[in-house]
Amino acid sequence: MSLRQQQELETDYLMRSYQRKPVEFVRGKGILLYDDTGAEYLDFLAGIGAVSVGHANPRVTRAIQEQAAKLLHVGNYYYVEGRGELAKKISALLNNGAVGDGGGTVGDGGGPEQSGTSRTPSPTVGTGDSGSLPFFWKTFFANSGAEAVEGAIKIARKYGMRYLEGADMVVSARRSFHGRTLATLAATGQDSKRDSFKPIPEGFVHVELNDIQALRAMLNQGFGGRPVCAVLLECIQGEGGVYPCTEEYLLAARQLTEEAGILLMIDEIQTGFYRTGTYPFAFQHYGITPDVVTLAKGLGAGVPIGAVAARGKAADIFEPGDHGSTFGGSPLAIVAANATLDELEATEAGQHVAEVGSYLQERLKDLPFVAEIRGRGLMVGLELNEAIAESIVTKGLKAGLVLNNIGPHILRFLPPLVCTKKDVDVLIKRLQTIMERL
Ligand SMILES: Cc1ncc(COP(=O)(O)O)c(C=O)c1O
Repeated sequence: MSLRQQQELETDYLMRSYQRKPVEFVRGKGILLYDDTGAEYLDFLAGIGAVSVGHANPRVTRAIQEQAAKLLHVGNYYYVEGRGELAKKISALLNNGAVGDGGGTVGDGGGPEQSGTSRTPSPTVGTGDSGSLPFFWKTFFANSGAEAVEGAIKIARKYGMRYLEGADMVVSARRSFHGRTLATLAATGQDSKRDSFKPIPEGFVHVELNDIQALRAMLNQGFGGRPVCAVLLECIQGEGGVYPCTEEYLLAARQLTEEAGILLMIDEIQTGFYRTGTYPFAFQHYGITPDVVTLAKGLGAGVPIGAVAARGKAADIFEPGDHGSTFGGSPLAIVAANATLDELEATEAGQHVAEVGSYLQERLKDLPFVAEIRGRGLMVGLELNEAIAESIVTKGLKAGLVLNNIGPHILRFLPPLVCTKKDVDVLIKRLQTIMERL
């Protein structure tokens, strides 16, 4: 069916929650996408950061095909192949160990009050305490990022009830993004996304990112006298415009939450699984270890999956009946995620992303209109000094580039992690041409 026919059908039969670009994609390969006319595009968005190992990755495709012919779904009342293995791999990655190195075989049983600021080995921040055993992370599987964050919020609330005398406030950052369900919208620090959907669930409050004093005051005083059970942060705010936490801020957030005995929850939905290069997760660049981590996007390479992982007392907070999902952790999503993690390991994605990401940041400096370049690895924001971002995205599509803008001034680059320096060169060349003609 042509783009035109598809547009007509969608206009009539789909809700208008997206302003789609005028293109119909029909297949992909690596970083390339092809539309219904056969035209080729370089994909610098990767399904909003989800297609980590590239489109139609052979390992993931094979795994999905084989599983689809065997078993799609039975629900969570039963065991299925691969689910425990996947959770164990995630635990190893959260411990910054190689995939499959047995992370999760040694439990620490400690709550956040014993959690330490730097048990995760970190070459960038040498504050490590003596703990060298891997933590024992436990995972709940869901289907999306928002569901992962919902799970984290429920963990925080029950944690507050059980261990913090009923503390129930969740603190997150202004300009943050945590999802579109009502609770995750409440956690999201952007009024414009919430205003049409009141009443928004209570129990959430926002502080300015990178303002340590504001965070300290909130943790000391609570919000209107209501004490805090958890702090929820993105290491690099993605949807907000690619704004990183400073190192001092995240270290302070860890220290303050630890001192207060409350949970530090890091949303790695966009930053996770080598998106930021070198390490599996962005928090590992900062040398901290959170108590709860939310995951999605890159974990499934395009197959819907979300997860919330926790360690210490938070890992055991859920009891049977507390939380659930019909589809979460389904055999199909599990094999896709296992294959994705195997592929990321086999291709040494961390190293590759660090190299290509640095190159991307370097090359972006060659462009006109550059005000600031932010981000890490293959999660990069280019702040422009004129309101031309949307026009560049529109013209980019005509020039064979899939681009993304956040507001009028910010271009965000989130290519599949298989992106090479040559792909970056093509991007820059096409962007130069577009920007010279603006
Ligand atoms: C940091 C972060 N958290 C949560 C979400 C929500 O994920 P989903 O769209 O899969 O519900 C997103 C999506 O962009 C995200 O970037």
